[in-house]
Formats: sequence, structure tokens, C-alpha cells
Amino acid sequence: MSARHLLSIESLDEAGLKQIIERACAFADGASAPEIDATVVNLFHEPSTRTRLSFERAAGCLGMQSFNIEPQLSSATKGESLTDTAATLQAMGMDCLILRHADDNLIFELAQKVKNLHLVNAGSGVRAHPSQALLDAAVLQARGLSPAGLKLAIVGDIRHSRVAASHLALWPRLGAAEIRLAGPHNMLPDAGATPGVTVHDNMDEAIAGANVVMMLRIQRERIDAEGWPDSQAYFADWGLSRERLSRLAPDSLVMHPGPVNRDVEISSEVADGPNALILDQVRMGVFARMAIFEWLLRGQD
Ligand code: CP
Repeated sequence: MSARHLLSIESLDEAGLKQIIERACAFADGASAPEIDATVVNLFHEPSTRTRLSFERAAGCLGMQSFNIEPQLSSATKGESLTDTAATLQAMGMDCLILRHADDNLIFELAQKVKNLHLVNAGSGVRAHPSQALLDAAVLQARGLSPAGLKLAIVGDIRHSRVAASHLALWPRLGAAEIRLAGPHNMLPDAGATPGVTVHDNMDEAIAGANVVMMLRIQRERIDAEGWPDSQAYFADWGLSRERLSRLAPDSLVMHPGPVNRDVEISSEVADGPNALILDQVRMGVFARMAIFEWLLRGQD
């Protein structure tokens, strides 16, 4: 049997999906962590604060050894392919590779080639960021929110967001009642790409009645500079201000996967206010990644 991987929400079966979310909530609630005798390597070809550190922290909580490869100091700079890097890690007895890469497909191709190395997709191009979607779902589950009744609005640069892509794969499976997308024309997905989801060209229309509003950063690294909007104009049209939030129900929740660009997609008053779950998401990130390691390494009979 080849090693179990976490590549995308789509490739995760129902049992795995349920297990990871439930165990993340249990760890957050104080469940004791198992000791896992395994090694993990973080290889991030794009910047990260939350994802990389929380995988490292999660590994530490489970007694695993973790290592970081800095791509600019690795043998990739001397022409080594990712496949050869993976084979090298396997030969050293490493168990897991956590990979972030700008390429949408590289990790999926690598999964066809590796035999005994567990792969975790920590962000692949605009295609997938499954651990972020799972931890976000765990945050809401831990607060007792039922996905069945959920009205979720996702606002901002949806077209270039792998977080949005993974959420669009996740919430219909969890049974969300309504998913609305809103953003500027050049940041919305292609028409028909998201069946069962409504697309709006007006933020106020999209967030009206939503119980969760998820704000997204403009992915400037994936947009040519001439397509970058003026920050003030963007905030006026697509930013979550206190005034906009005040028109929603008082118990509406605000999420953002981070990193946050204050006063571009969200005001500081909202980001630091009582409706925001941004730091709860960061906190759950460690528990969700513990649950992912447990599922990867102990979940197979
Ligand atoms: N949410 C997220 O992926 O953050 P980082 O880029 O800091 O890992």
C-alpha cells in the first residue's frame, strides 16, 4: 500500500474529512496528543508564517522530529528535481514532506511517484490549500455552528486564492446552506466554475444575511502589477469596514486565513473586533495539523 497523502479536499474521503475536523476540535478541547515516532520535512517554495510554523509546532506536540529545507539553500538550486529530493528524503528515513509550491500540479505529480513518503499539500498555486480549509471548518464546528444551516460569503480575490478553492470543495460536502462569492470582475472565478454557488458583483448584496464572512487577501504575487487595484478604492468597494459589519446580525462571524492587509480588505476595527475569528483560526491551525499527522501516520490499519 502506498503512503497516505493530503493533497486536496477532493482527494480526501468522507471518513478522513470527518476524522481530521473532529480530532482538531478534540485537541483544541484538551484531548491528549498521541506520541508519534516519525519525521517531517517542511519544504516551502513560497513564503509562509502560519502554515509552516503550525506544522512544525504540531509535529513538536506529537513528539515528531521536524526539519526545514530552505529552497534557496537546497540542491534544487543546483538542478535537483523535486522527485530526486523526495527520493533523497526517503533514503534518509524521513516520513512526511510538507510542500508549498507556486505550481498547481507539482505535488499531485509527485504523489504518483513516491512510495513511502507521506505528502501534505501546504498550498499549491491557486489550486488547493486543504489544511487551511479543514482548520477553518474546525473553528466553526468548535463553536457549535452546524454546516447545514451555514450561509457563507467569501469576498475578495477568489480567482487567485487556493484557500477559496479548497473551501469551495469543502463546504458543499459538509452541507452548507448557501455559499456566495463576491469580488472585482478580474478576481472572480470563471463563469460556471463553481456550480451551486452564487457569484455577486456587489459586496453588500453578497454578505447580507451571511452568518460567516470570509475575507481574502489580494494575491498580488499571482496578478500582473497593472491589474492591482488602488487600495483605497478597493477597500471602498470590497473592504469589510465596521459600518458594513454593523448591517449584519450581531453574532455574524468574520474569518480571514491571513496574512491580513489592514485597510485593504478589512479594517483594523473589524480584524481586532469581537466578531473576528482570525486568531482562533491561527490557534486551530496547530490542532488541525496535529489531526492531519495523526490521520496520515496512525489512521491506516
Ligand atoms: N493562511 C496561510 O496560508 O498563511 P501563511 O501564508 O502565513 O502560511
